[in-house]
Amino acid sequence: MQARLSGLTAMPDRLVDAMRYSSLLGGKRIRPCLVYASARALGAAPEHADAAATAVEFIHCYSLIHDDLPAMDNDDLRRGKPTLHRAFDEATAILAGDALQSLAFQVLAENPLIAPDVRLQMLALLARAAGSDGMIAGQSIDLEAVGQHLTLAQLENMHNLKTGALIQASVELGALSAHCRDTAVLEALREYARCIGLAFQVQDDILDVVSDTKILGKPQGSDIARNKPTYVSLLGLAGARTKADSLIARAHQSLLNLDADTTLLRDLATYITARQH
Ligand code: IPE
Ligand code: IPE
Ligand code: MG
Ligand code: MG
Ligand code: MG
Repeated sequence: MQARLSGLTAMPDRLVDAMRYSSLLGGKRIRPCLVYASARALGAAPEHADAAATAVEFIHCYSLIHDDLPAMDNDDLRRGKPTLHRAFDEATAILAGDALQSLAFQVLAENPLIAPDVRLQMLALLARAAGSDGMIAGQSIDLEAVGQHLTLAQLENMHNLKTGALIQASVELGALSAHCRDTAVLEALREYARCIGLAFQVQDDILDVVSDTKILGKPQGSDIARNKPTYVSLLGLAGARTKADSLIARAHQSLLNLDADTTLLRDLATYITARQH
């Protein structure tokens, strides 16, 4: 990631500084970790997964920049620092997000370590997960849901799209980095990824209620303040925790169908509900 951002010499300094601010100064990097973990489980060398890991994190960082904008969640704090539109300005935040999104696809397209047909599959996979069939659909539903009551099925759909889609793509991109075409293996990984993707957002909803701003690095209570439907608002804290735990148990179960060293994938799933920020 650092290398890709160092190479951007033709761009205005302010834009590059904004892109660096939002992608290099923090974050748990769970999506790249998932790319590397699934690539490793299927026997790929880490450098074969570098491009996919970088691409998903760029998409994620762009999504956070836009998510925090006044027109969306209107948050002032991210990863313990002012959000990008606060540290810079709104227009720069919009453009830095746009540029990170383009850069994600560029990094995947220009990766010589992956065969061209697999690269194309990766590009299509990431585009579907990030766009109006995936993350952006979820973000759009999320904005419409402010102040509304959602059924559990509607909430699950929203979470699967806004957060689950990119997490699923991370796991699948790792498998593609290993040039995996075994449908049974891919299906077991997809089931794992579906479970942890939803669990990740359920835990995010829980942390919005139980954590504090200092630990979270983003404003605690933001969902409550904006009257957003969440797993906690629908199921209560205990219900949300039970849901997250059962999803992680299912994710662990699905790994048992793989004849591979899935230790890292297993530990990452455990981390999703154990994390405090
Ligand atoms: C926050 O994602 C946004 C959601 C999709 C819930 P992360 O919790 O992965 O954010 P960082 O990258 O660690 O800051
Ligand atoms: C963000 O969900 C999902 C995306 C950015 C796609 P949230 O709005 O719940 O994320 P946080 O809590 O601000 O990190
Ligand atoms: Mg949001
Ligand atoms: Mg938000
Ligand atoms: Mg949240």
